[in-house]
Amino acid sequence: MPVHDLPTEPRPLHPPLRHVPLSPTLAVNEAIARKKREGAWVLPLGFGEAGIPIHPALVRELAAGADRGAYGPVAGSAPLRAAVAGYWARRGLPTDPGMIVSGPGSKPLLFALITAIGGDVVVPAPSWVSYAAQATLANVDPVFVATPPGEGGVPSPALLADAVVRARAAGRTIRAVVVTLPDNPTGTLASEETVRRLCTVAREHDLVIISDEIYRDLVHDPSRQVHSPAAFAPERTVVTSSLSKAHAAGGWRLGVARLPEGPFGEALRASLLGIASEIWSSSPAPVQHAAAFAYSEPAELVAHVDRSRRLHAAVMGAVADRFAAAGARVRRPEAAFYVYPDLDPLRATLQARHGVRTAADLCDLLLERYGVGVLPGSSFGEPAEALRVRVAPSLLYGENDEQRLEALAAPDPATVPWIATALDRLSEVLADLGHPGEVQNTGNEEPVLIPAASVA
Ligand SMILES: Cc1ncc(COP(=O)(O)O)c(C=O)c1O
Repeated sequence: MPVHDLPTEPRPLHPPLRHVPLSPTLAVNEAIARKKREGAWVLPLGFGEAGIPIHPALVRELAAGADRGAYGPVAGSAPLRAAVAGYWARRGLPTDPGMIVSGPGSKPLLFALITAIGGDVVVPAPSWVSYAAQATLANVDPVFVATPPGEGGVPSPALLADAVVRARAAGRTIRAVVVTLPDNPTGTLASEETVRRLCTVAREHDLVIISDEIYRDLVHDPSRQVHSPAAFAPERTVVTSSLSKAHAAGGWRLGVARLPEGPFGEALRASLLGIASEIWSSSPAPVQHAAAFAYSEPAELVAHVDRSRRLHAAVMGAVADRFAAAGARVRRPEAAFYVYPDLDPLRATLQARHGVRTAADLCDLLLERYGVGVLPGSSFGEPAEALRVRVAPSLLYGENDEQRLEALAAPDPATVPWIATALDRLSEVLADLGHPGEVQNTGNEEPVLIPAASVA
């Protein structure tokens, strides 16, 4: 066709795009921001952000590294890998810096690992939203296996063995199991015994263990030890971590993986570096410089992480207490900054008054009617009708760094005015939610609650 005969009007495209929904944690963040823009009351309990300021010494190191413009090695700089090896050695896991690979956050490292391993992958039920989503993106199937009661993050070893045998008998190639130590969403930490048994099953069934230890330094009781599968099955365990949680630097995007020594680890490293070289080339050089400082664990950063751990413990405990007082079943979190209540005891009222049948219904109700943003257990692999929700209260620590620093320094953080106000508001919402009487606020009428401006 001559060029001048081409149609001039743009034609709409109908490409057969692959549908990839926004990760639920990011989606709830956007929904809360929308409600805030509309001037609604909001209590942001959806997004897993650490909610504390970055330590000034780390900011100084980032600035000092700002002139590093070169890409650098795919695996990460030698000083970063040496510092990370030291970090793990101090936790009882002697590490060869050559087996460290860094990436722009642990999320892409996890995706690259799942892609490199290349078979179906067992994930705990419940577990962090992205493991299953990443498996699907990598064209493998996630297989959910329930965790033992009170030990989130590790699939029950007996159920794992059973699931692998059944899946393989059905022709599936299960190659890996993911564990989260400590866990998101439950805020619990699996016992040494359970981790050892998981390692035994992984050996018997020839599974790679991907141990996501991003919350390792945020166990509320500092005397409690985290037992990594890398200690019991070193030949098959990959450990990941990042600056995002303990150092509250999620936006800096810096994660690290510790690969096993030996022929399998070498082959995995080669594959991981191949994927990394095609996707992110190297992690940001100035951030690597700051991360090398962070992983060398100077006293000022250790003290900052300590303070944040105390703050998380106090506020998570207070939030769990509010849910318990409202009649929910809830475990006191042991680590990180999540609470995972089960509102099943309120099911009859929730269904009769609000038509709630699933956790997603419950989360819609909480957001649209009360301005409370939390995530349904179904986003974490739970059955739709289980009324469990993941609550992430760390954005209540303050609206600015001044408030967050005050919360960090407070001997009793739950009594800091803006945190106490938010906690009281949560109690009001939960009391109204579980109230068996008539619906008091109907239609567009706002519940009688305090304005968002005073609570973050
Ligand atoms: C269990 C778990 N693993 C991994 C990540 C990803 O963290 P990043 O990519 O920031 O290192 C998160 C973030 O929420 C998480 O909760």
